[in-house]
Amino acid sequence: MRTQVGIIGSGPAGLLLSHLLQQQGIESVILERQSRIHVEGRIRAGVLEQGTVNLLQQIGVNERMDREGIVHEGFALAFAGRKARIDMHGLTGGNAVMIYGQTEVTRDLINARLAAGGVIHYEAPAVAVEDYLTDQPRIIYEQNGSPKELICDFVAGCDGYHGAARRSVPENKLQLFEKIYPFGWLGILADVPPVDHELIYANHERGFALCSMRSHTRSRYYIQCSLDDSVDHWTDDAFWDELRRRLPPESAEKLVTGPRLEMSIAPLRSFVVEPMRFGTLFLAGDAAHIVPPTGAKGLNLAASDVYYLARALTAFYTEKRTDLLDRYSETALRRVWKAVRFSWWFTTLMHKFGDDLLNHRLQLAELDYLAGSTAARTAMAENYVGLPFEKFE
Ligand code: APR
Ligand code: PHB
Repeated sequence: MRTQVGIIGSGPAGLLLSHLLQQQGIESVILERQSRIHVEGRIRAGVLEQGTVNLLQQIGVNERMDREGIVHEGFALAFAGRKARIDMHGLTGGNAVMIYGQTEVTRDLINARLAAGGVIHYEAPAVAVEDYLTDQPRIIYEQNGSPKELICDFVAGCDGYHGAARRSVPENKLQLFEKIYPFGWLGILADVPPVDHELIYANHERGFALCSMRSHTRSRYYIQCSLDDSVDHWTDDAFWDELRRRLPPESAEKLVTGPRLEMSIAPLRSFVVEPMRFGTLFLAGDAAHIVPPTGAKGLNLAASDVYYLARALTAFYTEKRTDLLDRYSETALRRVWKAVRFSWWFTTLMHKFGDDLLNHRLQLAELDYLAGSTAARTAMAENYVGLPFEKFE
């Protein structure tokens, strides 16, 4: 099989790239290890930055997002029994975020790809990328148990942290940066009305908690848990009781509880690989970087990566330019590192790190400073709504 751009992975990065390229008349084929049902069934985060919302609107995959998504102009920080609101809209000249599940974004993109005649091979795991130092890279993959290859001009590794693309590059060609946090997030999804109309990020001496939502009738809550914890240790009631303990009284009283639709534990890590390009192989999204979910940056970084990559590939196919291809990695990494920094800072501010009481006092002092300083809240709001995409043309 032959195509212009071979894309490994049918997550948000791969799907968004494929749709952006098609709109520029560039052909691509997506190879996905899992089945369509599996990909569409994954429970992931749900906060879209302004830039991601604009990109989905630009490519016309916004109808359901605009109808079902919830625009949030602020969020709350809870600490020491009180709440402080971060007025994103007011502090960033009118920007906001959209609460719309990544699962829904993925479904909308798959429907849009298939409706536009896009080619996605499910249950076709890529095994390796070869000849990526030539202008005819090949993706070796399996389908129905037999080995196959896809010959391309370029390969986009959008196959996540555990994918084959990055693994195809010798370790000595990669610079890896990684930080594993000593705790996880225990999350519950339940058909109960959210405790508040905006998200609440809570710092508490018992550990972090987050109150989020998917709609006005479906809520998503997280509590910090130890890495060796397991979902089997938690009844629904135990979860709700622990969450209530970590919220300010006014919120704890309003909490509506109910049976879990889903409960899972997610580890927290910061990870970046440099560079994000190896000849005709380009990495995007989780294949190149992972952020702790505290800042809700994962999906949004995947979107900015493919925004830059699509522009670089378009400049190559329409004007035979290679300068944007050459600048893709450094440009994407500049935005990646700022989001990695913000996610690390927010995680460090809001989570319990053992019994280090001095650290907790420092966290409370920083939160109190944030609550009282417009400058500090502005910096936080700017990063939360998403830093602008760099001019890349
Ligand atoms: N061959 C084919 N597909 C693969 C392979 C492989 N060897 N390995 C992984 N995949 C697929 C996965 O099954 C998944 O569908 O690649 C896709 C990667 O998608 P994501 O993990 O969603 O990564 P990305 O598209 O970069 O989106 C990043 O996803 O995990 C969240 O928090 C993260 O929000 C961020 C977003
Ligand atoms: C979520 O809704 O799942 C969510 C929201 C905000 C975060 C992380 C996850 O920071």
